[in-house]
Amino acid sequence: MSNNRTVLVTGAAGFIGSNFIYYWKEKYPDQALVILDALTYAGNKNNLQQLIDAKEIIFVHGSICDASLVKQVIVDNSIDTIIHFAAESHVDRSITGPDAFIETNIVGTHTLLRVAKECWLGENEVTNHHFHHVSTDEVYGTLAAGDAAFSETTPYAPNSPYAASKAASDHLVRAYHHTFRMRVTTSNCSNNYGPYQFPEKLIPLCMLNILAGRALPIYGDGLQIRDWLYVDDHNRGIDLVINQGRQGETYNIGGNNEWANIDVVKLLCKIVGEKFNADSTLATRFPDSPCAKRETAERLITYVTDRPGHDTRYAIDAGKIMGELGYNPVEVFESGLEKTVDWYLNNEDWWQSILDDSYQG
Ligand SMILES: NC(=O)c1ccc[n+]([C@@H]2O[C@H](COP(=O)([O-])OP(=O)(O)OC[C@H]3O[C@@H](n4cnc5c(N)ncnc54)[C@H](O)[C@@H]3O)[C@@H](O)[C@H]2O)c1
Repeated sequence: MSNNRTVLVTGAAGFIGSNFIYYWKEKYPDQALVILDALTYAGNKNNLQQLIDAKEIIFVHGSICDASLVKQVIVDNSIDTIIHFAAESHVDRSITGPDAFIETNIVGTHTLLRVAKECWLGENEVTNHHFHHVSTDEVYGTLAAGDAAFSETTPYAPNSPYAASKAASDHLVRAYHHTFRMRVTTSNCSNNYGPYQFPEKLIPLCMLNILAGRALPIYGDGLQIRDWLYVDDHNRGIDLVINQGRQGETYNIGGNNEWANIDVVKLLCKIVGEKFNADSTLATRFPDSPCAKRETAERLITYVTDRPGHDTRYAIDAGKIMGELGYNPVEVFESGLEKTVDWYLNNEDWWQSILDDSYQG
């Protein structure tokens, strides 16, 4: 594997992409990094502004569905590696408005693949090219309690428009390898948490609602189980797959860390309460939080009508990446969640600019 890549990262102004850029830049400081991001509601250029200002990365504002722009970015920067994060990623939005998911996740991924094939497998072949596709465990559908965790051979059975669109994109990546011999890898990861996550997802949504004294909405009975992984443990897995994974292969990434949604929210309430107890300035900053009055935030928990087609349980069998590539997550859930809480407490400007809608300038 080449250590001297010129990398295009799609969707790097989003949650995982932003964390990935900081991870990758620290690990491979000399590699050229170009970003292509459409800056949808989920994209926040401020996440990367310090690197853009320092000219450590090149930021291109545009869509992966725009074939001529994608071609220009690949050719002008002599891109040999694409790491593909860009997607519509929120299941609830895929239920109310699936079109954008079909467009970006399926058509956009195919546009990237088609243009990359033209650039890499045409007259002037780029022999060391690599396309890494970032995907989700949701393509496998749902598990009952006691079922074996998802492995790479679990049949695809997506249940939401989001999961179906990611499943389609996974199949396209696979097909470009088998049909055109494109050098590809795919990773399917479980639920991520950490800094820069948009406050529509469970953990940041509940975190900010605790601070504001607003309801903590829990779907159905709250017993849906997810397998949570700290975002940099995901990034470490992607790094291993790109640099040591076998061409054409898929690797599941997970932390063997299953939690019911209600228990995640209760743990979050406990950690935020402890932060208020340890730092009296928090009660002044967030007077509407029950934690400001030394009350438990659990009283904000409000059960709401379940999401249609809500998957019961996800669990990842990460045996392949652990056995073949020596992967091991390093973050423990309790400490990772505490780090995440600290990040949101220390970065109020970041989330306030999202809440007041000024973040996209
Ligand atoms: N968040 C998770 O828990 C999780 C878990 C497993 C896999 N994934 C996958 O990881 C990837 C990143 O997820 P995330 O949570 O960071 O998502 P996100 O919604 O936070 O960010 C998505 C980014 O993609 C950009 N984007 C959207 N449409 C685009 C387009 N047409 N062209 C260019 N850019 C576009 C957005 O502006 C945003 O910056 C996705 O592919 C997702 O399916 C996420």
